[in-house]
Amino acid sequence: MRASGLTGKKVITTPFSYVATVSALLWEGCTPVFADIDEETLCLDPHAVSEKITPDVAGVLPVHIYGNACDVDTFGALAKDAHLTLIYDGAQCFGSAYKGKSVLDYGDYAACSFHATKIFHTVEGGGVVAHSPEAMKALTLLRAFGHRGDTHYRLGINAKLSELHAAMGLSLLGGVESRIAAYAKVRAAYDALLPPHGLRRLVLREGLKYNQAYYPVIFDDEKTLLRAMERLNAENIFPRRYFYPALNTLPYLKETQTCPVAESISRRVLCLPLYPRLEDANVERIADIVKSCLS
Ligand SMILES: Cc1ncc(COP(=O)(O)O)c(C=O)c1O
Repeated sequence: MRASGLTGKKVITTPFSYVATVSALLWEGCTPVFADIDEETLCLDPHAVSEKITPDVAGVLPVHIYGNACDVDTFGALAKDAHLTLIYDGAQCFGSAYKGKSVLDYGDYAACSFHATKIFHTVEGGGVVAHSPEAMKALTLLRAFGHRGDTHYRLGINAKLSELHAAMGLSLLGGVESRIAAYAKVRAAYDALLPPHGLRRLVLREGLKYNQAYYPVIFDDEKTLLRAMERLNAENIFPRRYFYPALNTLPYLKETQTCPVAESISRRVLCLPLYPRLEDANVERIADIVKSCLS
């Protein structure tokens, strides 16, 4: 936000994400303007965004949610026409590719998380993809005290990735493809075991090579979701309410904005356990419990 000059400005974003998307905006003194999401891909809907553009909006912050790709072509055109800075939150999309290039390659900037829960990680940390030498310079200075040698260019802090964290990342990088394949195997097992009705799945964008990192299921209503959580928890199985609540309803926002699709989805969506060594027998147990909750 700061490198791109969006500090203190109005930025349109999605209500369906991890809280960090909105925290980043608020932390930089930006005003989040929420537009609703697409019911199927669960990404920010560009048509909803275009309705929210006013002369004082300076940027758009869509999220490649669950590693799915946003409608990058429409967002690219929209940002260009309206002279908006386009920053993607690509925290979850490492390993996903769209139209032959990394999903992180789209937009003016894309930020990726290397947190330990991600398909590739450095325990904690992350990276930013930028596309101009000026942007690179700003980012490099911001993360390293704002100076090079004895020349001080701007205010900066210590946001460097430590050598230890980098070593962790290097040790995992070569294994990313086999990790993705292992995730894909578990996802395919869920697909085969869970019924198509009563439980909607994420619709991946056509042309996406998916990083397989999440298995969200959308129940018909919140009551069924809570029943499934209760039965899974009783068996020591802990799925996550990714992402609940809808971020436009955060209690510390100054203004109330409504986003009916995101609010409804976030009440009904659950991410089932997914990790490379999740055994077939446990996938079956989880699927059986979820099925037992559907009417
Ligand atoms: C969509 C999204 N944005 C931002 C973040 C924050 O990433 P980090 O924990 O690396 O700061 C996450 C983390 O899970 C995320 O899922």
